[in-house]
Amino acid sequence: MSEMTVANASEISRHDFPGDFMFGVGSSAYQVEGSWRTDGKGLSIWDWFCLRHPDKVEGGANGCHSDENYTRMKEDVQILKKMGVNSYRFSISWPRILPGGKVSMGKSKEGINHYNRLIDELLANEIEPFVTLFHSDLPNALEQEYMGFLSSNIEDFVNYADVCFWEFGDRVKNWVTINEPHGFTISGYAQGIWPPGRGGNNKDGDPQTEPYIVAYNLLNSHAAAYTKYQQDYKDIQKGKVGITLDCDYFQPYRGLGCRQDVEAVGYAFDFVIGWFLEPITRGSWPESMQKFGQTPTSEYPNGRVLPTFSSDQRIKLIDSYDFLGINYYTANYVRSPTPDDDIGLGYSMDRQDPDGRYIGEPSFEGSWIYLCPQQLTQLLVHIKETYQVTKEIIITENGSSEKNETRKTYEQVREDKYWINYIKEHLKALKNARDQNVNVRGYFVWSFMDSFEWTSGYSVRFGMIYVDFTKDLERYPKESALWYKKFLWEQDYNKILKRSITQVKDQKLKKART
Ligand code: NOJ
Repeated sequence: MSEMTVANASEISRHDFPGDFMFGVGSSAYQVEGSWRTDGKGLSIWDWFCLRHPDKVEGGANGCHSDENYTRMKEDVQILKKMGVNSYRFSISWPRILPGGKVSMGKSKEGINHYNRLIDELLANEIEPFVTLFHSDLPNALEQEYMGFLSSNIEDFVNYADVCFWEFGDRVKNWVTINEPHGFTISGYAQGIWPPGRGGNNKDGDPQTEPYIVAYNLLNSHAAAYTKYQQDYKDIQKGKVGITLDCDYFQPYRGLGCRQDVEAVGYAFDFVIGWFLEPITRGSWPESMQKFGQTPTSEYPNGRVLPTFSSDQRIKLIDSYDFLGINYYTANYVRSPTPDDDIGLGYSMDRQDPDGRYIGEPSFEGSWIYLCPQQLTQLLVHIKETYQVTKEIIITENGSSEKNETRKTYEQVREDKYWINYIKEHLKALKNARDQNVNVRGYFVWSFMDSFEWTSGYSVRFGMIYVDFTKDLERYPKESALWYKKFLWEQDYNKILKRSITQVKDQKLKKART
């Protein structure tokens, strides 16, 4: 590791955070597991989408084999151990546990055993499992049977969650019900670039109404799983259940003096995070969203109707989280929409201001990630103040990527200085947020290792661990992994130091007594 990296490491230290602060890295099942048909796993909508529409994924790629984390689980836990993290965020593949999506179609013993082994292995290595139940890979059987989350038939999600709480809850104490409901809804039902590929340029779907229906069903599924845990498991298992929301920070394109753009910023927060956070804090959709829904459009001259939460649903939704997960990557400029903007959401985004200045340094030319750490502090303060969130907040994802179009070698990417700076600056931003009394209790870097990045396939690398996709999926640490290890190690080092100082003192005392 270079001198510069080591010197910079001292600017933020592990001691700036409490001892029990969760520090980890994250992954998701479809992105890393591979073994897409091993041990009777069922198909997910991502298996189906990638294989059926290779033209829609960069390089025609898929996650069929990816990192083969399924078969290399023990090796990967050892890498986590070496990195020194105290927690690991991973997701369970629903179709691996329930190949037909439903309990009535049978549980897979092999699938369940795989996660039992992973959890046991993590705990044996003093790493806390932090588990997501749904990270985009819906069982394809449910998509075919009743169109997945477009249907209000949520029982299957609750039953799946129930199986996981029952099988793993004696050891898993942190559960995320749903990852990025906003991203899942917009990409799959408004833009139509993710499965099930509705809306956008596709002939199927209605991007003006379906996203609201899907959001409604996702929220009710989340609340029902939360309630299930409270009623049947909480007293005995004593774990926590939360949800993970994605949100960029938004700034007015033409500055604070431009009223329309400032208004658009309000819309952007409402339509990205408020969409899910208001229902679980106040039991209703954001006001601006309700108004927007009722505004007549050419397809809907009488306006659209947003699904309404019944009083029972509202009761279940309000306060249905023990912690709030936030995925933060970057910030964007926002302006009032022009008539050619594709998705009618009351705002549109820009990465450059009117003078062509980027909002932050891009991770590479053309990347959607810009280095905007102070905006993470601002976002967290905004969440606390606007939605009165005083419960624990966990940063469930934060990270950057490297372009991989030319299949870069380890030597070409291992010195990831941008990355190290990115993490360091975001850790400082977290410290600042904590100083402003935002209750942040954990931080997970995205991601553990290079993996399948959805429609970008393998054309970008998000990992702290480099994976050689051309040779046996060998794993190597980038400098960021070593920086993180050093940052985390400081605490252990001090513990060891303290212990040995006390031991020396004890020995001296013993000697003096004899
Ligand atoms: C958020 C998603 O949860 C994750 O799956 C994805 O890889 C990262 N963003 C990076 O795009």
